[in-house]
Amino acid sequence: MTTPDKAPASPRVPVTLRVNGSDHHLLVEPRHTLLDTLREDLRLTGTKKVCDMGNCGACTVHQDGHSVYSCLTLAVEANGSEVRTVEGLADAGELDPVQEAFIRADAFQCGFCTPGQLMSLRALLDARPDPTDEEIAKAVTGNLCRCGAYHNIMKAGRLAAEIQAERRATGNGPTAGMEAAE
Ligand code: FES
Ligand code: FES
Repeated sequence: MTTPDKAPASPRVPVTLRVNGSDHHLLVEPRHTLLDTLREDLRLTGTKKVCDMGNCGACTVHQDGHSVYSCLTLAVEANGSEVRTVEGLADAGELDPVQEAFIRADAFQCGFCTPGQLMSLRALLDARPDPTDEEIAKAVTGNLCRCGAYHNIMKAGRLAAEIQAERRATGNGPTAGMEAAE
């Protein structure tokens, strides 16, 4: 029995991405997703590939300040964008409030959904520094946790808002000097 030949690779096209503050000039196939480009070309493997079809949220990153599923975004669509991944949350080794809150609230088990949860909550806190429980739940509704850690993920969302407010009040740590986005 013969196996069908693999489809030939498409000609690569130039794409420029600003990822976690650094510019990258890449040549990518037009069919390549932002997720694969981050993981395979840039070796930023913190963003997880789970369903690869827009069902789980493990691949959530920020594109120009908005949460997107990077498995549903083509790299060419993101051309010229500012992308932030979980690797870009900590600042000079100091954890972002959402990261600190996840540790303190014990908000993960296997951890596979965690990068996506963190990015969704960071986008929420950028827009709504003092979110309601309903807003926290809505922010992570697109992030499936197969371990069922939702109770502590909710606790982490509340705690992250408190840590962020405390840092802003004292002028300490990542996000301390950032104004909330309107
Ligand atoms: S890997 Fe993108 S939504 Fe599941
Ligand atoms: S901690 Fe395992 S999937 Fe969420």
